Amino acid sequence: MKAGILGTGHYAPEKVLTNFDMEKIVDTSDEWIRTRTGIEERRIASDNEDTSDLAYKAALNALNEAELSAEDLDLILVATVTPDQAFPTVSCILQDRLGASKAAAMDISAACAGFMYGVITAKQFIETGAYKHVLIIGADKLSKITDWTDRNTCVLFGDGAGAAVMGPVSEDKGILSFELGSDGSGGKHLAQENEHIIMNGREVFKFAVRQMPESSVNVVEKAGYAKEDVDYLIPHQANIRIMEAARQRLGIDPEKLAVNVNKYGNTSAASIPIALSEGVKEGKIKDNDLVVLVGFGGGLTWGAVALKWGK
Ligand code: UT7
Repeated sequence: MKAGILGTGHYAPEKVLTNFDMEKIVDTSDEWIRTRTGIEERRIASDNEDTSDLAYKAALNALNEAELSAEDLDLILVATVTPDQAFPTVSCILQDRLGASKAAAMDISAACAGFMYGVITAKQFIETGAYKHVLIIGADKLSKITDWTDRNTCVLFGDGAGAAVMGPVSEDKGILSFELGSDGSGGKHLAQENEHIIMNGREVFKFAVRQMPESSVNVVEKAGYAKEDVDYLIPHQANIRIMEAARQRLGIDPEKLAVNVNKYGNTSAASIPIALSEGVKEGKIKDNDLVVLVGFGGGLTWGAVALKWGK
């Protein structure tokens, strides 16, 4: 049995904070942010909108696209580092709110690679036949742990949620290969200390420009394809320069790279599923396409899959 994606969804809060707005908050410039990161604006959740609210909207959107109801779900996985509280988990809040009466629920903590950890966990349950339908959501409200006085970090992040419903698909479709990894020795480079995110940008950059291209190539080769066969590359949206490094390593054309970092900034676990959902809705991902999803994040963590799109 093969596990694949049956439907996708996303939600981004309404409030837009542009680079020009950031100029009024810290000593920065639109020019610096755009040229170093590719970010032009980001979305910020309101005070009465928490991570579970973002996740809920993305989940409804994904269930709708999959043409399934919450009662069809066997498992809900929410990847987040900004849960409403430690427990009950965001996944349990959603289980109740969605009315997923027979679903088990747990949160996954793997920072920006969290959605990849979720997808690959779901694949195991589906392919063993233990569960049929798994809802995976990447949701983060980073604005609540952002240090709004630190220009090294606050210009980078945004809030949002993305979701995918996974289930069995035909033998020639679905996830063909995966890679997961971690390196706790680099944990100090990107962490939550006291209340806020702290980051050594140069160290994280060095790790990411090495790991994302390498993991992308690894999953394509494990799947038995050549690098240039990739039809659509969806990397974690942290910095356009890191994303470009992965694209160039695969040797694929610029239009095959998913880019929305300009609109949302780095939304942590939400970034890959938001880009996936937009890619589907904008018709950029078509039946039988070879799609690569690849992420990296605090931990340090990373994960990638190569998949054949379709049911
Ligand atoms: O999900 C994973 C999350 N994290 C990441 O992916 C981060 C990975 N790292 C990066 O994306 C990049 O390292 C950054 C975008 C964070 C920084 O870009 P950089 O080209 O590596 O810049 P830099 O760290 O070498 O800093 C260059 C200068 C520094 O000034 P000095 O020391 O050279 O005088 C910074 O103080 O830019 C300064 N700077 C800023 N200037 C204006 C740092 N942040 C800002 C800012 N506005 N917001």
